[in-house]
Amino acid sequence: MTAPVLECQDLKVSFLKKNRLIKAVDGVNIHIDPGECFGLVGGSGCGKSTLARLITRLKDSDSGKILVENEDVTRVKGKDLKSFYRKVQMVFQDPVGSFDPRKTIGKSILEVLGNFGLAKKADRKELVTEALEMVGLSAEHALRLPGQISGGQCQRAALAKAVVVRPKLLICDEVTSALDVSVQAQIIDLLSELQKNLNMALLFISHDLSLVRCFTTRLGVMHDGRIVETGPADEVVANPQHEHTKLLLSSLFPIPKRSCEFEPISPAA
Ligand SMILES: Nc1ncnc2c1ncn2[C@@H]1O[C@H](COP(=O)(O)OP(=O)(O)OP(=O)(O)O)[C@@H](O)[C@H]1O
Ligand SMILES: [Mg+2]
Repeated sequence: MTAPVLECQDLKVSFLKKNRLIKAVDGVNIHIDPGECFGLVGGSGCGKSTLARLITRLKDSDSGKILVENEDVTRVKGKDLKSFYRKVQMVFQDPVGSFDPRKTIGKSILEVLGNFGLAKKADRKELVTEALEMVGLSAEHALRLPGQISGGQCQRAALAKAVVVRPKLLICDEVTSALDVSVQAQIIDLLSELQKNLNMALLFISHDLSLVRCFTTRLGVMHDGRIVETGPADEVVANPQHEHTKLLLSSLFPIPKRSCEFEPISPAA
C-alpha cells in the first residue's frame, strides 16, 4: 500500500491571548492519499489556517506528528526545508502577497526554480512559460509585475509558482475567497485540472461547504480546533453526523440543489 502523502497525528498548538489559552489546533488527525483531493471546511476561527501553517512548517506545533510520505517532518528545519517545500507547497487567499511587487511574475517563478536548483539554467525560462500556460496564462504575463494583472490572473500566477516545482501536495487556503464568483469557478476548475494532470494531492481549505463538496472527494469538518467529522464528501453532506456539520449545511451556508457543474474554463480572467 502506498504511504499517505500527508499524515497528521494528534497535532496540537495553543496561543495565549489576553491570559486566555486558545487551543487553535487541538488533536488533529488527518491523512491525505497521493493524488487525493481533501477538503477542510469550518467556520471562521476554527483553526484551519493554523493547521495549514503547522503542516507547512511556518509554525511549530506544541505536540503531535506530521508525516510526509511516511517521513517525520514535524521539526524539519534549515536545509532540509528545501526538499520538504518541494513536496509541499501552499497558496494563500491573497495572491499578490506571494509575489515581490518589484519583480516580474516570470522573475519570481524563475527564482523558485533557481532556489530549488531545478533544471539547467538555460531551460528554466521555458519551464516558467510552461507553468504559466498550465494555469491558463501565457509567456506575456511573465513580463508583468503583480500589480499589472487582475486578481484572478494573480491567483493563477501564484498557482504556477507553486506547481512549477511539481509538489506532491498543494495546500490552498481560501484561494478563491477574494475573487468574483465567476472567477472562483474558473480557479476551482483549474485546480481540478492541475490535480489530475500533475497527479498531485490537494488540501483545499474553505469556510464554504457548498464549494468544497463540489470537487473534493473526501472532507473534514473542523470546529474549535478539532476535526469533528470526516468522510467521503457526498456522504458527509447527505448524512451529516455532527451538530456543527449540520449547522454548516443549514441556512447559514446554503447548498445549491443542482449538481456541481462549473462552466468550462474561458480565457483567463
Ligand atoms: N498568532 C496567533 N496568536 C494568537 N492567536 C492566534 C494566532 N493565530 C491564530 N490565532 C487564533 O487561533 C484561532 C484559529 O485561527 P485560524 O486563523 O487558524 O482560523 P481559521 O479557521 O483559519 O479562520 P478563518 O476562516 O477566519 O480564516 C483563532 O481563535 C485565532 O484568533
Ligand atoms: Mg483562515
